[in-house]
Amino acid sequence: MSEIKRSKFKEMAVYQIWTRSFCDSNGDGIGDLPGVLGKLDYIKSLGVDGIWFSPIYPSPNADYGYDISDYKNINPEFGTLDDFRQILDGAHERGMMVFMDLVVNHTSDEHEWFKESRKSVDNPYHDYYIWRKGRDNKPPNNWLSNFEGCAWEYDEGLDEYYLHIFAKKQPDLNMDNPKVREEVKDIMRFWLDMGVDGFREDVITFISKAEGLPNGIPMPAATGIEHYRHGPHLDEYLLEFRRDVLSKYDCFVVGESPMMTVDSALSLIEEGKDQKLDMMFNFQHMEADCIMTDWVKTPFSLRKLKGAMSRWQNGLYGRAWNALYIENHDHARIVDRYGSRDYREESAKMLAAMYMLQSGTPFIYQGQEIGMTNIELDGISECKDIATFNAYRLFKKLGFSEKRFMKLANKVSRENARTPVQWSSEENAGFTTGKPWFNINENYRSINVRDEDKDPDSILNFYRSLIAFRKENDVAIYGKYREFYPASNSLFVYERVLGSRRMLVVCSFKERSVRFDSPSGYDLNSGKLVLSNYKDNKIVNNGFLTKPYEVRVYLF
Ligand code: NOJ
Repeated sequence: MSEIKRSKFKEMAVYQIWTRSFCDSNGDGIGDLPGVLGKLDYIKSLGVDGIWFSPIYPSPNADYGYDISDYKNINPEFGTLDDFRQILDGAHERGMMVFMDLVVNHTSDEHEWFKESRKSVDNPYHDYYIWRKGRDNKPPNNWLSNFEGCAWEYDEGLDEYYLHIFAKKQPDLNMDNPKVREEVKDIMRFWLDMGVDGFREDVITFISKAEGLPNGIPMPAATGIEHYRHGPHLDEYLLEFRRDVLSKYDCFVVGESPMMTVDSALSLIEEGKDQKLDMMFNFQHMEADCIMTDWVKTPFSLRKLKGAMSRWQNGLYGRAWNALYIENHDHARIVDRYGSRDYREESAKMLAAMYMLQSGTPFIYQGQEIGMTNIELDGISECKDIATFNAYRLFKKLGFSEKRFMKLANKVSRENARTPVQWSSEENAGFTTGKPWFNINENYRSINVRDEDKDPDSILNFYRSLIAFRKENDVAIYGKYREFYPASNSLFVYERVLGSRRMLVVCSFKERSVRFDSPSGYDLNSGKLVLSNYKDNKIVNNGFLTKPYEVRVYLF
């Protein structure tokens, strides 16, 4: 018997689309909405229940859509509102929901509000943003931008600075201004009335800044973060959005929340009348091979990964709900981080089962389902992402040559996630008939959707089986999580239990063979093997010797 409240949002699996690199329909080299429309059957074939679109609004693309210049329209590079409505209808007809990315911590500096805001201090929009006078010709405080040096940009005309926690072209909105909050609600209503099913809210936990904007503790690229990562009015504003808008629709909201701990998360996602967000993307499990940022790379530590995952699994169970992910547009490809290029297929399948069978709603990033890998970019001139450019500036100061920097970037940068989806072995991976906006990974000839679709043992078909299995087995959705052998640096083993049903998930993170012994109370011979990534699944003495990156899932 489960105490967990059931909901379609807990049972769903969601596919994330970063449109620019998804599928190009008109040969301009840029993925677009008609391209997505043509792939709806493919997306449905994965068994997912929803699509999250990274921002598709008009944008000068300083941060590829995360700098929005008009919240109620579609980026003309991607299509029109009509194209979007067709996708909405097409998705709904196929039983899939559609979620928009809502980016309201900041806008583009080319948004009308900001253009007005910088006209004069008396302009009615001035207070839509965070403008301050300098201190003795210096910025108002020592905060650093995540993307480019100082978090303040000086405006000569006004003799004031505006705050930008991300790029200069992404000024932060002043959420303390009630008019700004009304604008946010208005945007939410616009899309919800059109029929969208909810939002992924970009760095939503940054929207409230500490009173007086005090100096922060110096740290690379994030000085000041303690003053806005869970600011004084965050809970209040999120509750206001919920009360005034979201509660009036059958919709769902997942918040992106860097630097959150389980405890701070619970104040936002704990179920009950004060719940502010349905779920949260936390970052802790994405730091198993780095420190704080992907750019400070360390060797992969399985214990770090398990520690983070189990902390959230145990901390939230019965109180709140996890959002599960191992890839998105902000991180390098997972097989090249936590898996192995030599055992790409095996490790991609193992990683898929490892995270998707935990308690929570799984999100799958485009290309993840075919095991796409990182790309080798030759030089900074081939890069596209503002975060990479920023890192280059910082690493150059540390004495890195371009070559040495690119070696790192090819391991850790967001560029790796943003190469076009590899649809087939045809020219340009079947992504475009024109010149692709960004490099296509050369390995498309052997790693692509068309080939994997035909191969019953492919990563793609493993994802399909996994998603279907989760849907058909309540224990995989609602079961209680317990980890075994937490000290192991080789195996990730956990159970899920719901009533008399038990599921045991055994994952090896090693190429070499490791002995797995069933935890007490388990007799493997009486279980049913429901998923695995090898054909030979012998059991020896109630356990087995693992093959490279082996995964087995048993039901009891
Ligand atoms: C988080 C988004 O996922 C990332 O892509 C973006 O650059 C920042 N927020 C700023 O919007």
